Amino acid sequence: MPCSAITLSLATICAVVSVALVSIAFGTDNWQYINVNRTNVEAKLQNAPSINPSDFQEKGLYFTRTKGLFRICFPKTRPAKEDLYLSPVETYCKNIDYHIFDEDDTTSSFKEDEMTRLHMARSMIALFIVSFFFVFVAFWTGVAGCWRRSPGNIASTAILMLLACLFSAGGMGLWHGCEYFEEEKLRVAPYKMSWDPLLQDSTSVSYDWSYFIAWIGVGWALISALLFSGASVCLRTEREREEAKNMAYLMPVYPQKQQYPTYGYGYPGPYHYGSQYGPYNY
Ligand SMILES: *[C@@H]1O[C@H](CO)[C@@H](O)[C@H](O)[C@H]1NC(C)=O
Repeated sequence: MPCSAITLSLATICAVVSVALVSIAFGTDNWQYINVNRTNVEAKLQNAPSINPSDFQEKGLYFTRTKGLFRICFPKTRPAKEDLYLSPVETYCKNIDYHIFDEDDTTSSFKEDEMTRLHMARSMIALFIVSFFFVFVAFWTGVAGCWRRSPGNIASTAILMLLACLFSAGGMGLWHGCEYFEEEKLRVAPYKMSWDPLLQDSTSVSYDWSYFIAWIGVGWALISALLFSGASVCLRTEREREEAKNMAYLMPVYPQKQQYPTYGYGYPGPYHYGSQYGPYNY
């Protein structure tokens, strides 16, 4: 089997795995697992005057939750007063507000830091969407490249997959930026630095599976880009070998081409139709 066929198949598999993983991560709500030890908070509630006892039953902050790019979900008990709905995977969730249209103009009261976080969060979503767009275009250049066995098209596919990888990695970077702002920098509600120390001590945040498969998807996109560029090199080499073979077949007929009219030289001729690679188009 020619090397281009093998690398092309592997590159395609990697690209499919990558886009599947990144889109599952994009759509699921398990980027962070935010565990609240409610037993501990409840036991020490009297010693924490800044916590309103009714908030403890009503506000999402006091409940164990998972956080995705678009939703916060409550897999265990759920807060009484939050406006929740059942997500496609049957957990109670609320949406994260990106203030896209900002009808009630909440963002005008935001401080500079909050605005920075919001811009980062919006750009993160935008980077992921652009990365999906690159994969979509890569799909079509890939199909064209396999169909016509064109090294040029396969090279474009490699570049597009590399761009998809870089943009989704950029999205991951911004996600970490938002995480840093939410947990270490912002001192306003509802972010961590504004909580009562009791709640801060009873809450532990850890990465969850959506986050991990997002990074794995980014990695597969890189591997796929490398394999596509390898496949492009293979295709080019195979084509050159094929052309050399055709040439070798032509050469003995005209051993000293200077003595003959040159119009026949290099003409693709009937030999070309015997080629398994079909007509070459760039
Ligand atoms: C939660 O807090 C209680 C009381 O402080 C403690 O006994 C328990 O071990 C904690 N649970 C977890 C899972 O940390």
